[in-house]
Amino acid sequence: MRIGVLTGGGDCPGLNAVIRAVVRKGISTYGHEFVGFRDGWRGPLEGTTRELGIAQVRGILPRGGTILGSSRTNPFKIDGGVEKIKSNLADLGVDALVAIGGEDTLGVASKLTDLGVNVVGVPKTIDNDLGATDYTFGFDTAVNIAMEAIDRLHTTAESHHRTLVVEVMGRHAGWIALHAGLAGGANVILLPERNFDVDQVAGYVEKRFQTQYSPIVVVAEGAQPLDGQMVTHNQELDSFGHVRLGGIGQWLAEQLEAKTGKEARTVVLGHIQRGGTPTAFDRVLATRFGLQAIDAVNDGDFGKMVALQGTDIVRVPLQDATRELKTVPVERYTEAEVFFGS
Ligand code: F6P
Repeated sequence: MRIGVLTGGGDCPGLNAVIRAVVRKGISTYGHEFVGFRDGWRGPLEGTTRELGIAQVRGILPRGGTILGSSRTNPFKIDGGVEKIKSNLADLGVDALVAIGGEDTLGVASKLTDLGVNVVGVPKTIDNDLGATDYTFGFDTAVNIAMEAIDRLHTTAESHHRTLVVEVMGRHAGWIALHAGLAGGANVILLPERNFDVDQVAGYVEKRFQTQYSPIVVVAEGAQPLDGQMVTHNQELDSFGHVRLGGIGQWLAEQLEAKTGKEARTVVLGHIQRGGTPTAFDRVLATRFGLQAIDAVNDGDFGKMVALQGTDIVRVPLQDATRELKTVPVERYTEAEVFFGS
């Protein structure tokens, strides 16, 4: 078989580990051929490719980003997009695709499957918000980066008796904020799943100062105050209808400073959470996903996504993964609340 590989959406550490595993096993075990599509769905749409063989995947396991490039191209928003993809795949002799992506990339994969394109999906996103899989790769790396930042912020916050507000990624799901906040001993964690009361947050901040320690507030970029709305960078939407978020940390720091009379500063971790080398956990998960994805392609088991359930990698229908976002359940947030303000 001749198999195309693409990576779409926001990049994350571990993408190259998947590509490497797919190609290595696909060639050495099954004798397949590969073609790399550039920049997500833009590759098959425009027929832009790069060579993808054993030589091209040597040395990429620890490398962040993706050697194939990425984009948020949505072929369903382009006139004749699906037909272009089908004819490019036919011209290039591509029998099947491995699409590595999050809700948007895999949403496209799911629709294309219904239209007769042979696709197997691999779940990735630092947000960890895809249904049907316990974890996505990239998440563990992002959490570790954010945790390390929080560890560092504790010491400087205490030296200056300041509140430090750390804004982390997480558009609709607060998994990064929850895990990094718990691992880093944050004093308040705010998630998109639960609108927060800014007076209550100010109360936690004051209580923490009474212990002679300084508060660290972790806020997901998609978190909103009660009766407020998401703070956005601007109003532009990408081709999947997402607005660019950012700014809740600064807004909150200003509110907390005004309400508590104590200086408050903000740190926005932004794309640092998505860059650099993956953790061992993400390298292993990404590698196992890649090995299982090429098995699915080889079996002709299309329309599936590989998923982590417990410690097993299983195949689930692509629709199950993209039907609804996996958000933080209320009981997981309640667990963390024990530490708020203390
Ligand atoms: O979906 C992953 C993610 O990192 C989100 O957490 C974040 O809101 C978004 O991507 C940022 O995307 P971009 O890099 O396109 O600004």
